[in-house]
Amino acid sequence: MSFPATRLRRLRQNAVIRSLVQEHAIRAEQLVLPVFVVPGQNIEEPVEGFFDVKRRSVDKLMAVCDEALTAGVQTLALFPVLDASVKDLKGHEALNPEGLVPQVAQTIKSNFPELMLVADVALDPYTSHGQDGIIDDKGKILNDETVAVLAKQALISAQSGIDVVAPSDMMDGRVGVIRETLESNGCTDTIILSYAAKYCSAFYGPFREAVKSKACLAKADKKTYQMDPANTAEALREIQSDIEEGADCVMVKPGLPYLDIITQAKAAFDVPIFAYQVSGEYAMLKAAAQARAIDYEQGLMESLLALKRAGASGIFTYAALEAAALLR
Ligand code: PBG
Repeated sequence: MSFPATRLRRLRQNAVIRSLVQEHAIRAEQLVLPVFVVPGQNIEEPVEGFFDVKRRSVDKLMAVCDEALTAGVQTLALFPVLDASVKDLKGHEALNPEGLVPQVAQTIKSNFPELMLVADVALDPYTSHGQDGIIDDKGKILNDETVAVLAKQALISAQSGIDVVAPSDMMDGRVGVIRETLESNGCTDTIILSYAAKYCSAFYGPFREAVKSKACLAKADKKTYQMDPANTAEALREIQSDIEEGADCVMVKPGLPYLDIITQAKAAFDVPIFAYQVSGEYAMLKAAAQARAIDYEQGLMESLLALKRAGASGIFTYAALEAAALLR
């Protein structure tokens, strides 16, 4: 049908009709707030280049949990920040059942049982070299040795009350070994959200600053395990193998520069696809707003909506509380 029978502007003429025909929406309950936690008490410190994101000790995190629930954000992703003195070549501290993540998980769960908790499975906050895996003496990342450790890390997380384990390390075969380890230890309800299509991206800078892995990495990169930004088909193979190994849902990361990958994954697979609006994306929005180049609130909501439109169910974003407030 052509003009004037069709006038697409008829459905845009006022806010009521625009709402009635709106195809996608952001919901606070589908936002996940990543938080950085440090050992100790009464700590709330800024992170260079990360704008409003802070590292907090667990006591200070309680107010954030409360604020999240009040805003309708029901899921937090925990990222530990450890002192250099406990980091080592093999990331041993990741296997401490009384380590930071297990302790924080227990504290949050005893105060806010309704809050859902996600924990990364990867060694980068724990290794002195900042890589997600174990390395040999030439610096090569050892896949199978790493997977064995990751499975134990995931089990410790699950046993401390973490609901969702999220392998973000990009080792081959880790989802299968994690699933088997969880099943054989009675953690049959633990959800695996695998960072299946995780690209080797320049947008992780503020995150690495926050967990203090940037200095550890120095000039090294993660190209032998994280994906080449030039590849599409490979992302679908990564996602397929993680699903076959037992992932309940998968993540595409970063978010906005990879909308095409989200859309293709959504079309090809039946599992929920998560998107991670990563630290550098958040920082770009904040910096652009500070430079008066964009309106922060509009830019934020548009970027989250774009992730929904592409096909994401849940979205990890450092702006979860800001977005939830804007939705009300
Ligand atoms: C580590 C991990 C990273 C992020 C989440 N988990 C960084 C990396 O792979 O170097 C990035 C998140 C962000 O930038 O917001 N395994």
